[in-house]
Amino acid sequence: MELIRHFMILLSLLGVLFAHQFEAQSADASRSTARSLDALLQDYAYRAFVQPRSGVPYDGTAPSNLTGIKTAALRLRSGSLKKRGVDEYKEFGIPDGVVVRPYVERLVLVYQDLGNWSSFYYPHPPGYAYLTPVLGLLAYDAANLSATNLPELDIVALKSPISINFTYVIPAPRGAIARCVRFGVDGSLDFRDLVSSNICSTYRQGHFVIVVNSSEIAPSPAPAPSRAPGPGPSRVGSKSNKSKVWKIVGGVVGGVVALIFLALLVYLMHQHKHNKKVARMEQHADAGVSVHTTRVGNTHVPVALGTRTQPMLENELVA
Ligand SMILES: *[C@@H]1O[C@H](CO)[C@@H](O)[C@H](O)[C@H]1NC(C)=O
Ligand SMILES: *[C@@H]1O[C@H](CO)[C@@H](O)[C@H](O)[C@H]1NC(C)=O
Ligand SMILES: *[C@@H]1O[C@H](CO)[C@@H](O)[C@H](O)[C@H]1NC(C)=O
Ligand SMILES: *[C@@H]1O[C@H](CO)[C@@H](O)[C@H](O)[C@H]1NC(C)=O
Ligand SMILES: *[C@@H]1O[C@H](CO)[C@@H](O)[C@H](O)[C@H]1NC(C)=O
Repeated sequence: MELIRHFMILLSLLGVLFAHQFEAQSADASRSTARSLDALLQDYAYRAFVQPRSGVPYDGTAPSNLTGIKTAALRLRSGSLKKRGVDEYKEFGIPDGVVVRPYVERLVLVYQDLGNWSSFYYPHPPGYAYLTPVLGLLAYDAANLSATNLPELDIVALKSPISINFTYVIPAPRGAIARCVRFGVDGSLDFRDLVSSNICSTYRQGHFVIVVNSSEIAPSPAPAPSRAPGPGPSRVGSKSNKSKVWKIVGGVVGGVVALIFLALLVYLMHQHKHNKKVARMEQHADAGVSVHTTRVGNTHVPVALGTRTQPMLENELVA
């Protein structure tokens, strides 16, 4: 049994490793597409500015291949942002005490509502479903309104947090606890409690969404009947082709790996049984008054094999 236990530990370790690598890869891929969307929307939001007035939001137009995404831009003096904040900028409420780093004289706050593209650009954290679209708020330098590929500035709320008042939240199932998630520009992921049923808060810029544990949404195998009518979670959470492809690739790789391990397990169990038999034979031989050397001679080979089994196992696993 010792051998099998060791093997199981190894197997689960490898499983974790594979899952981790796979997850990291797809997370990296989706992060870079999300970053290129930020750059694209910065460009499109800035185009909404024609002789812009400070402190007035201008709605941008998303490119036609991204119908469903909304964007807007608001230009401000950073002094005004710090002193007065912005009461209401779409779903965002910005209090006073928000500073910009590095300092610029004027900045633009770009707003994003990713609508039905939310889970395309921001795949659900594993085990969670979205109850709202993903909303973004990012700060850029306003020095040149025709500039593209601008780096984000950093904004930090020093006094009270920025609030995000989601206009529509899919009701969480009874007993399920909804949470706020923030995707940082740097790829970080923070969970926070809701301020109220539809309001999240944050001290930084980024992308925001309300989530719920997905196992509480779809109770096991029954093909959730609540999905058909109304705006079920599946509508906001429509899967992208890309993540489907990744899933298939992951499935195939996972299947092959599982098959290899199954074969190995069968082999090892067989080997183990054999070793046990040999050990028993050996015991008999030791108990027996060291006669019948001719018959004991048989055990010579298996005894050596018993001690060599482990190195063999490692080689197989590395291969
Ligand atoms: C949409 O079009 C823009 C160019 O207008 C392109 O950069 C972007 O990759 C396209 N996005 C998708 C999802 O097709
Ligand atoms: C979102 O909806 C628009 C139509 O409203 C559609 O053209 C677009 O393909 C949808 N996006 C996704 C990711 O399904
Ligand atoms: C979701 O809920 C189930 C059961 O309550 C729990 O086992 C699981 O760990 C939860 N998942 C996450 C991601 O919190
Ligand atoms: C603003 O940016 C555009 C595009 O990068 C560039 O062509 C233009 O020269 C810049 N204007 C100024 C005043 O820096
Ligand atoms: C959130 O927005 C709704 C309407 O969009 C408004 O009635 C409500 O007062 C807002 N709540 C807060 C706390 O701002």
